[in-house]
Amino acid sequence: MLELKEITKIIGDKIILRNFSLALSPGESVAVIGPNGAGKSTFFKLAAGLMQPTSGEILLNGEQIKKKTHLLKKRIGYLGHESFLYNSLTPLENLRFYGKLYKVKNIEEKGMELLKAVGLHYFKDIPIRSFSRGMIQRLAIARVLLAEPEFLLLDEPHTGLDQEAVSLLNQLMKERQKQGISILLISHDFEQVINVCDRVLILNKGRVISDRNIDPQLELMSFKKWYEAAVIGK
Ligand SMILES: Nc1ncnc2c1ncn2[C@@H]1O[C@H](COP(=O)(O)OP(=O)(O)O)[C@@H](O)[C@H]1O
Ligand SMILES: [Mg+2]
Repeated sequence: MLELKEITKIIGDKIILRNFSLALSPGESVAVIGPNGAGKSTFFKLAAGLMQPTSGEILLNGEQIKKKTHLLKKRIGYLGHESFLYNSLTPLENLRFYGKLYKVKNIEEKGMELLKAVGLHYFKDIPIRSFSRGMIQRLAIARVLLAEPEFLLLDEPHTGLDQEAVSLLNQLMKERQKQGISILLISHDFEQVINVCDRVLILNKGRVISDRNIDPQLELMSFKKWYEAAVIGK
């Protein structure tokens, strides 16, 4: 269980997040949506232990997350706007590097399996500096899954992906969710949010302004109307 309790984040004289609380249970998949600058990415960095809150607590299975708690952080797979990959290395070499860092067993086998899962196995031995944005994003997704984290925090993972890769990613998320892994997803693509998530929060100006469950029958039009009413109504 990942719990954020009354988190406030102030940078300089700006309040980025105000009194934010969320509890994420095993196998739960929650989307965080909202306008640019709402505080979504800041929330993910806090939850991943990459940033400290000004006040409030973040607990991973009851333990506080601190900046250097390496073991705790291994259990959180964070995909941010940067890929954290090395341009001069091939996909397989990048995964080997992170595999060693996270002490992953059977790196070769797992690396190949993940490269197949994201559709990059034909490119496994080519340095990634020549890769398109979507190919880099596919590899970044494989990297995040490598250490088999219990929590996946994916900040706009669909960005730059083609249709095939979007389906592959959604499939990977659904499989992980079935295994009890919890997912937090930031996306501006409401179709993917409805497809993958059980619940959605709208963050606006650092506050949660609305929160709902998603049932699979929910239509995109009615979702958009709910979002617009919440954001424009405030
Ligand atoms: N390191 C930082 N220093 C100052 N302001 C920041 C910093 N990081 C984010 N912000 C500000 O916090 C607000 C929320 O940013 P962010 O969390 O990236 O929003 P979102 O992901 O919803 O677009 C923005 O106004 C942004 O300018
Ligand atoms: Mg962001």
